[in-house]
Amino acid sequence: MNLSDHKIIIALDGFSSCGKSTFAKTIAKRFNYKYIDSGAMYRAVTYLCLKHNAVNKNSINTNILGDLLNDVKIDFKIIDGNQYTFINDVNVEKEIRTIEISQSVSLVSANGDVREKLVEMQQKFGEDKGIVMDGRDIGTAVFPNAELKIFMTADPKVRAQRRYDELIAKGDDVNYDEIEENIVSRDYQDQNREISPLRKADDAIVLDNTYMTPEEQIIWLDKIVAEL
Ligand code: DC
Repeated sequence: MNLSDHKIIIALDGFSSCGKSTFAKTIAKRFNYKYIDSGAMYRAVTYLCLKHNAVNKNSINTNILGDLLNDVKIDFKIIDGNQYTFINDVNVEKEIRTIEISQSVSLVSANGDVREKLVEMQQKFGEDKGIVMDGRDIGTAVFPNAELKIFMTADPKVRAQRRYDELIAKGDDVNYDEIEENIVSRDYQDQNREISPLRKADDAIVLDNTYMTPEEQIIWLDKIVAEL
């Protein structure tokens, strides 16, 4: 199928740090699609919650959260070829990628009001199709009728190493064990939360990229698309 002419919805789900966003960006570029990083949206709400003291250890202040959700506007802008996340017109791309956000995002993303609000926004982004969205529940909850669903996975140690290398390259002072611990804990929380847990949609195709290069993943993709 020629996906550039025939616009579809591509749902890309999977575990943390599997390279979903890199792969999604490649797909978007290849077919001239819009790319939406749904994880960035959960990170953005987590950032707001931390900033407004709505998160206290293992609980969320639902009054503060309610006000934040009523006012929040999240969008993505491309500047010089790179995509950035904006909350209420402020670029928060850097702020939402810290380990502090990663440590609180599971709690915030397990909240039903947060999910309801963000799923609604995500479905609006997909109204005109021609979109690739990555996350945890895209093929199961956000776009259950997506024409192509991919479920990505990779060995947790390989994922931790990739994440570690990425953060070190950015100049962050990080600890490998802390990163691996965070990945394993997020895997558990993503799969075991009550609302929209991470699971492979029945009609999703699995991509295990533990031993794959980015180029091999593109070859894999082209084969799948040719068979659509
Ligand atoms: O993809 P990411 O690691 O940036 O996502 C951050 C967190 O957001 C992740 O721990 C789980 C949550 N998330 C979610 O619950 N549903 C999604 N569709 C995307 C992310």
